[in-house]
Amino acid sequence: MKIVRTIAKLQLDRTKSIAFVPTMGAFHEGHLALMRRAREAAEIVVVSLFVNPTQFVAGEDYDRYPRNEERDFELARKIPVDVMFAPSVAEMYAGEETVIHVKGVSERWEGEHRPGHFDGVATVVAKLFNIVRPNIAVFGLKDFQQAVVIDRMVRDLNIPLALLFEETVREQDGLAMSSRNAYLSPEQRRLAPMLHEELEQLSKSKSAGDKELSESKERLAKAGFAVDYLALVDGATLEPARKLEKGNRFIVAARLGATRLIDNLGF
Ligand code: PAJ
Repeated sequence: MKIVRTIAKLQLDRTKSIAFVPTMGAFHEGHLALMRRAREAAEIVVVSLFVNPTQFVAGEDYDRYPRNEERDFELARKIPVDVMFAPSVAEMYAGEETVIHVKGVSERWEGEHRPGHFDGVATVVAKLFNIVRPNIAVFGLKDFQQAVVIDRMVRDLNIPLALLFEETVREQDGLAMSSRNAYLSPEQRRLAPMLHEELEQLSKSKSAGDKELSESKERLAKAGFAVDYLALVDGATLEPARKLEKGNRFIVAARLGATRLIDNLGF
Protein backbone atom coordinates (compact mmCIF):
# COMPACT_ATOMS: atom_id res chain seq x y z
CA MET A 1 0.00 0.00 0.00
CA LYS A 2 1.34 3.35 -1.05
CA ILE A 3 0.94 6.21 1.44
CA VAL A 4 0.57 9.53 -0.34
CA ARG A 5 0.66 12.86 1.50
CA THR A 6 0.39 15.36 -1.34
CA ILE A 7 -1.95 15.93 -4.27
CA ALA A 8 1.01 16.16 -6.66
CA LYS A 9 2.20 12.66 -5.69
CA LEU A 10 -1.21 11.05 -6.16
CA GLN A 11 -0.49 9.57 -9.55
CA LEU A 12 -2.93 6.81 -10.44
CA ASP A 13 -3.02 4.48 -13.42
CA ARG A 14 -6.05 5.90 -15.18
CA THR A 15 -6.32 2.98 -17.59
CA LYS A 16 -7.67 1.04 -14.59
CA SER A 17 -10.97 1.42 -12.72
CA ILE A 18 -10.66 3.27 -9.42
CA ALA A 19 -12.89 2.88 -6.35
CA PHE A 20 -12.58 5.46 -3.59
CA VAL A 21 -13.51 5.41 0.11
CA PRO A 22 -13.29 8.76 1.93
CA THR A 23 -12.76 8.49 5.71
CA MET A 24 -11.62 10.38 8.78
CA GLY A 25 -9.72 7.38 10.14
CA ALA A 26 -10.05 5.54 13.47
CA PHE A 27 -11.08 2.54 11.41
CA HIS A 28 -13.60 -0.01 12.62
CA GLU A 29 -15.44 -2.82 10.82
CA GLY A 30 -17.79 -0.28 9.20
CA HIS A 31 -14.91 1.44 7.39
CA LEU A 32 -13.36 -1.91 6.50
CA ALA A 33 -16.65 -3.13 4.98
CA LEU A 34 -16.61 -0.11 2.64
CA MET A 35 -13.02 -0.87 1.65
CA ARG A 36 -13.88 -4.53 0.93
CA ARG A 37 -16.79 -3.39 -1.22
CA ALA A 38 -14.44 -1.03 -3.09
CA ARG A 39 -11.95 -3.91 -3.50
CA GLU A 40 -14.65 -5.97 -5.25
CA ALA A 41 -15.85 -3.06 -7.38
CA ALA A 42 -12.67 -1.84 -9.09
CA GLU A 43 -9.05 -2.58 -9.94
CA ILE A 44 -7.51 0.16 -7.80
CA VAL A 45 -8.72 1.02 -4.28
CA VAL A 46 -7.94 4.48 -2.91
CA VAL A 47 -8.82 5.42 0.67
CA SER A 48 -8.49 8.92 2.06
CA LEU A 49 -7.75 9.53 5.73
CA PHE A 50 -8.36 13.17 6.54
CA VAL A 51 -9.96 14.59 9.68
CA ASN A 52 -11.67 17.46 7.92
CA PRO A 53 -11.71 20.55 10.16
CA THR A 54 -14.39 22.38 8.16
CA GLN A 55 -17.12 19.86 8.99
CA PHE A 56 -16.72 20.21 12.75
CA VAL A 57 -18.92 22.91 14.22
CA ALA A 58 -17.46 25.24 16.89
CA GLY A 59 -17.32 23.42 20.23
CA GLU A 60 -17.27 19.94 18.65
CA ASP A 61 -14.60 17.26 19.00
CA TYR A 62 -12.13 18.18 16.20
CA ASP A 63 -9.15 18.36 18.58
CA ARG A 64 -9.93 15.14 20.42
CA TYR A 65 -11.20 13.14 17.41
CA PRO A 66 -9.41 9.74 17.63
CA ARG A 67 -6.27 9.69 15.46
CA ASN A 68 -4.09 6.59 15.04
CA GLU A 69 -2.60 6.53 11.56
CA GLU A 70 -0.24 3.60 12.02
CA ARG A 71 -3.03 1.32 13.25
CA ASP A 72 -5.29 2.50 10.42
CA PHE A 73 -2.60 1.90 7.79
CA GLU A 74 -2.08 -1.63 9.12
CA LEU A 75 -5.82 -2.43 8.89
CA ALA A 76 -6.05 -0.98 5.38
CA ARG A 77 -3.03 -3.00 4.21
CA LYS A 78 -4.91 -6.18 5.09
CA ILE A 79 -7.84 -5.39 2.74
CA PRO A 80 -5.62 -4.72 0.70
CA VAL A 81 -5.96 -1.03 -0.13
CA ASP A 82 -3.65 0.17 -2.93
CA VAL A 83 -3.29 3.85 -2.12
CA MET A 84 -3.83 5.67 1.19
CA PHE A 85 -4.18 9.40 0.65
CA ALA A 86 -3.49 11.08 4.00
CA PRO A 87 -2.92 14.79 3.40
CA SER A 88 -2.27 17.52 5.97
CA VAL A 89 -4.79 20.29 6.55
CA ALA A 90 -2.44 22.72 4.76
CA GLU A 91 -2.31 20.41 1.73
CA MET A 92 -6.12 20.34 1.51
CA TYR A 93 -6.89 23.97 2.37
CA ALA A 94 -5.08 27.14 1.38
CA GLY A 95 -7.67 29.81 2.07
CA GLU A 96 -10.39 28.65 -0.31
CA GLU A 97 -13.51 30.79 -0.51
CA THR A 98 -15.71 28.31 -2.37
CA VAL A 99 -18.23 26.32 -0.37
CA ILE A 100 -20.65 23.72 -1.68
CA HIS A 101 -24.06 24.04 -0.10
CA VAL A 102 -26.61 21.36 -0.92
CA LYS A 103 -29.94 23.03 -0.21
CA GLY A 104 -32.99 21.16 1.11
CA VAL A 105 -31.68 17.78 2.19
CA SER A 106 -28.78 19.26 4.18
CA GLU A 107 -30.87 21.78 6.05
CA ARG A 108 -32.96 19.47 8.25
CA TRP A 109 -32.06 17.16 11.15
CA GLU A 110 -28.25 17.07 11.43
CA GLY A 111 -28.15 20.34 9.50
CA GLU A 112 -30.24 22.04 12.18
CA HIS A 113 -28.20 20.67 15.06
CA ARG A 114 -24.80 21.08 13.40
CA PRO A 115 -25.08 24.25 11.31
CA GLY A 116 -22.50 24.33 8.52
CA HIS A 117 -21.58 20.66 8.99
CA PHE A 118 -22.83 19.48 5.60
CA ASP A 119 -21.23 22.44 3.80
CA GLY A 120 -17.92 21.17 5.21
CA VAL A 121 -18.71 17.58 4.19
CA ALA A 122 -19.94 18.42 0.68
CA THR A 123 -17.00 20.73 -0.01
CA VAL A 124 -14.30 18.31 1.16
CA VAL A 125 -15.93 15.36 -0.63
CA ALA A 126 -16.13 17.38 -3.87
CA LYS A 127 -12.46 18.35 -3.47
CA LEU A 128 -11.50 14.71 -2.82
CA PHE A 129 -13.52 13.56 -5.85
CA ASN A 130 -11.63 16.07 -8.01
CA ILE A 131 -8.27 15.05 -6.55
CA VAL A 132 -8.80 11.27 -6.83
CA ARG A 133 -11.18 11.29 -9.84
CA PRO A 134 -12.58 7.83 -9.03
CA ASN A 135 -15.03 5.84 -11.15
CA ILE A 136 -16.79 4.62 -8.01
CA ALA A 137 -17.08 6.03 -4.50
CA VAL A 138 -18.34 4.03 -1.50
CA PHE A 139 -20.19 5.50 1.49
CA GLY A 140 -21.92 4.04 4.55
CA LEU A 141 -25.61 4.37 5.33
CA LYS A 142 -24.71 4.82 9.01
CA ASP A 143 -24.52 8.52 8.15
CA PHE A 144 -27.80 8.38 6.28
CA GLN A 145 -28.30 12.09 5.76
CA GLN A 146 -24.70 12.47 4.60
CA ALA A 147 -25.34 9.74 2.01
CA VAL A 148 -28.42 11.61 0.75
CA VAL A 149 -26.49 14.92 0.62
CA ILE A 150 -23.60 13.38 -1.36
CA ASP A 151 -25.99 11.60 -3.71
CA ARG A 152 -27.77 14.89 -4.38
CA MET A 153 -24.49 16.78 -4.91
CA VAL A 154 -23.21 14.16 -7.37
CA ARG A 155 -26.41 14.36 -9.39
CA ASP A 156 -26.76 18.14 -9.25
CA LEU A 157 -23.15 18.81 -10.27
CA ASN A 158 -23.00 15.94 -12.82
CA ILE A 159 -19.95 14.51 -11.08
CA PRO A 160 -18.96 11.58 -13.32
CA LEU A 161 -18.85 8.68 -10.88
CA ALA A 162 -21.07 5.93 -9.49
CA LEU A 163 -21.97 5.90 -5.81
CA LEU A 164 -22.26 2.71 -3.78
CA PHE A 165 -23.83 2.61 -0.32
CA GLU A 166 -23.23 -0.02 2.34
CA GLU A 167 -25.57 -0.90 5.20
CA THR A 168 -24.52 -0.07 8.75
CA VAL A 169 -22.14 -2.47 10.47
CA ARG A 170 -23.10 -3.03 14.11
CA GLU A 171 -21.59 -4.38 17.31
CA GLN A 172 -23.07 -7.67 18.54
CA ASP A 173 -25.48 -5.81 20.80
CA GLY A 174 -26.78 -3.70 17.90
CA LEU A 175 -24.88 -0.46 18.53
CA ALA A 176 -23.86 1.08 15.19
CA MET A 177 -20.08 1.11 14.94
CA SER A 178 -18.66 4.62 15.15
CA SER A 179 -15.28 6.15 15.86
CA ARG A 180 -17.05 8.23 18.51
CA ASN A 181 -18.13 5.12 20.51
CA ALA A 182 -14.64 5.25 22.00
CA TYR A 183 -15.74 8.32 23.99
CA LEU A 184 -18.42 6.37 25.89
CA SER A 185 -17.88 5.46 29.54
CA PRO A 186 -18.56 1.77 30.39
CA GLU A 187 -21.97 2.77 31.73
CA GLN A 188 -22.86 4.82 28.66
CA ARG A 189 -21.63 1.99 26.44
CA ARG A 190 -24.07 -0.38 28.17
CA LEU A 191 -26.90 2.05 27.52
CA ALA A 192 -26.00 2.95 23.92
CA PRO A 193 -27.60 -0.07 22.11
CA MET A 194 -30.98 1.17 23.29
CA LEU A 195 -30.93 3.62 20.40
CA HIS A 196 -31.00 0.77 17.88
CA GLU A 197 -33.49 -1.21 19.99
CA GLU A 198 -35.94 1.67 19.91
CA LEU A 199 -35.69 1.91 16.11
CA GLU A 200 -36.21 -1.84 15.82
CA GLN A 201 -39.25 -1.64 18.05
CA LEU A 202 -40.70 1.27 16.08
CA SER A 203 -40.14 -0.50 12.79
CA LYS A 204 -42.09 -3.51 14.10
CA SER A 205 -45.01 -1.48 15.42
CA LYS A 206 -48.21 -1.20 13.42
CA SER A 207 -47.88 2.52 12.92
CA ALA A 208 -45.24 5.13 13.70
CA GLY A 209 -47.28 8.25 14.32
CA ASP A 210 -46.54 11.09 16.72
CA LYS A 211 -47.70 8.98 19.67
CA GLU A 212 -45.27 6.09 19.06
CA LEU A 213 -42.41 8.50 18.33
CA SER A 214 -42.95 10.55 21.49
CA GLU A 215 -43.24 7.41 23.63
CA SER A 216 -39.95 6.21 22.24
CA LYS A 217 -38.32 9.61 22.87
CA GLU A 218 -39.61 9.51 26.44
CA ARG A 219 -38.14 6.05 27.05
CA LEU A 220 -34.78 7.26 25.73
CA ALA A 221 -34.89 10.41 27.86
CA LYS A 222 -35.76 8.37 30.96
CA ALA A 223 -32.77 6.13 30.33
CA GLY A 224 -30.45 9.14 30.15
CA PHE A 225 -30.32 10.13 26.48
CA ALA A 226 -30.78 13.76 25.40
CA VAL A 227 -32.64 13.22 22.12
CA ASP A 228 -31.97 15.79 19.37
CA TYR A 229 -34.49 14.20 17.00
CA LEU A 230 -36.24 10.92 16.31
CA ALA A 231 -38.32 10.78 13.15
CA LEU A 232 -39.64 8.71 10.29
CA VAL A 233 -38.58 10.32 7.00
CA ASP A 234 -38.83 9.84 3.28
CA GLY A 235 -35.43 8.36 2.41
CA ALA A 236 -35.03 10.54 -0.68
CA THR A 237 -36.22 13.96 0.49
CA LEU A 238 -35.74 13.54 4.26
CA GLU A 239 -39.16 15.13 4.77
CA PRO A 240 -41.19 13.61 7.61
CA ALA A 241 -43.14 10.54 6.50
CA ARG A 242 -46.06 8.65 8.00
CA LYS A 243 -46.04 5.17 6.54
CA LEU A 244 -43.93 2.23 7.55
CA GLU A 245 -42.95 1.28 4.02
CA LYS A 246 -39.90 0.68 1.87
CA GLY A 247 -38.12 3.92 1.02
CA ASN A 248 -38.90 5.50 4.38
CA ARG A 249 -36.42 5.43 7.24
CA PHE A 250 -36.23 6.07 10.96
CA ILE A 251 -33.46 8.50 11.89
CA VAL A 252 -32.27 9.37 15.36
CA ALA A 253 -29.65 11.54 17.03
CA ALA A 254 -29.13 11.57 20.78
CA ARG A 255 -26.47 12.53 23.23
CA LEU A 256 -25.12 10.45 26.09
CA GLY A 257 -23.17 12.94 28.18
CA ALA A 258 -20.90 14.79 25.75
CA THR A 259 -21.06 12.05 23.10
CA ARG A 260 -23.48 12.45 20.23
CA LEU A 261 -24.72 9.23 18.60
CA ILE A 262 -26.69 8.90 15.36
CA ASP A 263 -28.41 5.88 13.90
CA ASN A 264 -31.10 4.99 11.37
CA LEU A 265 -33.12 2.02 10.19
CA GLY A 266 -34.83 1.23 6.93
CA PHE A 267 -37.37 -1.43 6.00
P1 PAJ B 1 -16.12 8.78 8.75
O1 PAJ B 1 -17.00 9.09 9.90
O2 PAJ B 1 -14.71 8.32 9.00
O3 PAJ B 1 -16.85 7.69 7.87
C1 PAJ B 1 -16.29 7.26 6.66
C2 PAJ B 1 -17.31 6.38 5.96
O4 PAJ B 1 -17.58 5.22 6.76
C3 PAJ B 1 -18.66 7.09 5.74
O5 PAJ B 1 -19.16 6.78 4.45
C4 PAJ B 1 -19.52 6.49 6.83
O6 PAJ B 1 -20.90 6.50 6.54
C5 PAJ B 1 -18.97 5.07 6.89
N1 PAJ B 1 -19.30 4.43 8.17
C6 PAJ B 1 -19.09 4.89 9.43
N2 PAJ B 1 -19.57 4.02 10.35
C7 PAJ B 1 -20.11 2.99 9.66
C8 PAJ B 1 -20.77 1.76 10.04
N3 PAJ B 1 -20.97 1.44 11.31
N4 PAJ B 1 -21.19 0.94 9.05
C9 PAJ B 1 -21.00 1.26 7.75
N5 PAJ B 1 -20.37 2.38 7.32
C10 PAJ B 1 -19.94 3.24 8.27
O7 PAJ B 1 -18.16 10.22 7.13
C11 PAJ B 1 -17.06 10.72 7.22
O8 PAJ B 1 -15.99 10.07 7.80
C12 PAJ B 1 -16.74 12.10 6.67
O9 PAJ B 1 -17.86 12.92 6.79
C13 PAJ B 1 -16.22 12.08 5.20
C14 PAJ B 1 -17.28 11.52 4.25
C15 PAJ B 1 -14.93 11.26 5.10
C16 PAJ B 1 -15.90 13.54 4.76
O10 PAJ B 1 -14.94 14.11 5.59
